[in-house]
Amino acid sequence: MTKHPNPPDKSSAAGPLPAGMRVHAGLDVEALQQAFHERRTFSLAKDEYTATIHDNLMSAAYTIRDLMIDRWIKTQQRYHKTNTKRVYYLSMEFLIGRLMMHGVLNLGIGKEFRRALEGYGLALEELVEAEADAGLGNGGLGRLAACLMDSMSTLGVPATGYGIMFDYGIFQQKIVNGYQVEAPDSWLRLGTPWAIDRPEYTIRVRFYGHTQHHYDSSGHLTVEWVDTEDILAMPYDIPLPGYKNDVVNTLRLWSAKGTLDFDLSYFNHGDYIRAYERKIASENITKVLYPNDNVSAGVELRLKQEYLFSAASLADIIRRFRVHNSDFNDFPKKVAIQLNDTHPGLAIVELMRILLDEEGLEWAQAWEITVNTFAYTNHTLMPEALESWSVPLLQRLLPRHLEIIYEINARFLREVSNRFLGDPDRLRRMSMVQEGDPKKIRMSALCIVASHSVNGVSALHSELIEQTLFRDFFEMYPERFNCKTNGVTPRRWLLESNPRLSDLITEKIGNVWPAELSARTRAISPLSSARRTG
Ligand code: IMP
Repeated sequence: MTKHPNPPDKSSAAGPLPAGMRVHAGLDVEALQQAFHERRTFSLAKDEYTATIHDNLMSAAYTIRDLMIDRWIKTQQRYHKTNTKRVYYLSMEFLIGRLMMHGVLNLGIGKEFRRALEGYGLALEELVEAEADAGLGNGGLGRLAACLMDSMSTLGVPATGYGIMFDYGIFQQKIVNGYQVEAPDSWLRLGTPWAIDRPEYTIRVRFYGHTQHHYDSSGHLTVEWVDTEDILAMPYDIPLPGYKNDVVNTLRLWSAKGTLDFDLSYFNHGDYIRAYERKIASENITKVLYPNDNVSAGVELRLKQEYLFSAASLADIIRRFRVHNSDFNDFPKKVAIQLNDTHPGLAIVELMRILLDEEGLEWAQAWEITVNTFAYTNHTLMPEALESWSVPLLQRLLPRHLEIIYEINARFLREVSNRFLGDPDRLRRMSMVQEGDPKKIRMSALCIVASHSVNGVSALHSELIEQTLFRDFFEMYPERFNCKTNGVTPRRWLLESNPRLSDLITEKIGNVWPAELSARTRAISPLSSARRTG
């Protein structure tokens, strides 16, 4: 291999194809080489003499991303044109990891792309190894979110994932003298080729302030939330391709951006640095992933993270709903919101706030829409993992939301006492408000009461939910409880991670299994073949 292998054959004709042609250029080796060459030249201003491994990785990743874009836009247009019902998966964490090989395999161009890169003296595996790992999660909960998104794309389910664009993901583990040492994970240091910033979809999210209650002449209550301190949430979009099916769904991750408008007074008084300090403090909200998904941190920054992404996601969902719908009674016909644990649970209260205070709906109607929209996945019954937010903290940070939670709770407890007469202990156990100093709001109770579906993540866990911690809730709403056993996507965890075993399986049973694992498993099971022959 020469030190700087020249681009093969037609690379000297280095000019770009006319705009718009490249994405349709096809998936053969030559077209991929041309696309790679153009990306390296025109997006990175590099050539074979100066390109670092990172430049080559970026060029390769852009080439793959370009192939997704056309499919991505067409998929989203189709969802709009059919005004279809969509699944919105809200999760604090998406442990998506590296995306290039995943994209290559899902597009079905493994062989062609490998050969295209070899023409430039590059090995696909080497580039893949150089990709930063998007460690935007701790483990099970975040990887489940990534696997579900992958499966929904492959099944063609119109789904969007909503989460947080953390600047620092799960820490880098180093072992020093036999002990774990944690180092920062600056995964965005060199930029990521996958996320496209969308400043035009920025949402203003409000915090702090206080509420003002007004009664009109007919006794109708309106509530205003005023004097808030606002933070901007700007989305980044990552394409999520299905397996060889031309479907590309979206993972939309929010990043906090400070506004400068409420800091003008500092500027006006010449306190230039102080104004920027406020902006930087706002942007810290999405800086770091909390390094634990099974211990509730209970701190203000975490609550801000949770509300920022819940409120921004809900505003985006409502914006999209409004494009083709005007009646909020249709909301649950067009929108299903799945909560991955209680972290996005404030989205429930935010929807109630919007329906009551901004849309002017009556409580009963707003509540029915909310319950029919939300579903909740419980991950654990460990007490230290169950989120409960201090009432004084909520009172300060989200005063209107606390009022709504109290009202939800009061109405719920009335329902409980009507069902189970003379059982005050049951009321205490089921209340969303946990007595103590300070009082706390139990997010799991809120999520169960406001969801039409509550699932555990294994048969045993789902059974324990019903028998132990949430037994009272199960007795109240047995029809809501169900089990969805956690799984992994066979695309990443077999096709991508074990190519030799994958080749063997394909050799024996054909190549349909990555998209239809159960069908193929049945085909090779001795039992099922015995049944067939018998
Ligand atoms: P969204 O507005 O966040 O759903 O995403 C924008 C995507 O949907 C883009 O790919 C648009 O081309 C597509 N889109 C937005 N509005 C419409 C529409 O009214 N008809 C068809 N496609 C649309």
